Amino acid sequence: MLTPAQVNLIQISFEEALSARDDLVTDFYKTLFEKAPSVRGMFSEDMSGQSKKLASMLQLAVRNLNDPAALVGPLHTLGAKHVAYGTQPAHYSVVGEALVESLKNAVGPTWTAEHSEAWNKALSFVSQTMLAGATKATSVEAV
Ligand code: HEM
Repeated sequence: MLTPAQVNLIQISFEEALSARDDLVTDFYKTLFEKAPSVRGMFSEDMSGQSKKLASMLQLAVRNLNDPAALVGPLHTLGAKHVAYGTQPAHYSVVGEALVESLKNAVGPTWTAEHSEAWNKALSFVSQTMLAGATKATSVEAV
């Protein structure tokens, strides 16, 4: 799991990224659609509502990194919803890459390899937990 130093690094860099770019989430989607053009059609034309939902979820996750057990329920539910969106397990890595790239660009030269490591670890926890929720949803459907 994340060390207290990694939690701290994530919380501080998230604040820095948001104050450097209030369009952080918009930039994330732009990066995602450049890296994986095939996923663009899964989203609505107007991304403003979606951007707000993603920003709130990221805020919730970043705030609760010290207490990951509190995130498991909401992330299972979110992962289950993503089955209906057509999300494949392989999509999670490109989403993680795009998010780390946008954060890095927003934070600028003070970004270090430790930032990337901490964020990758946190996003891997988020993705794995969402995927566990997706599996649960799929097996309930199959019954
Ligand atoms: C870090 C992992 C992810 C997080 C935190 C996340 C977060 C969210 C949130 C909060 C919503 C809104 C759910 C609602 O309306 O209640 C959403 C919707 C959605 N997500 Fe994700 N997501 C993640 C990964 C992915 C991946 C890997 C894909 C696949 C490309 C994806 C595709 C979508 C789509 C298509 C929607 C619905 C958009 C719409 O209604 O137009 N997400 N996501």
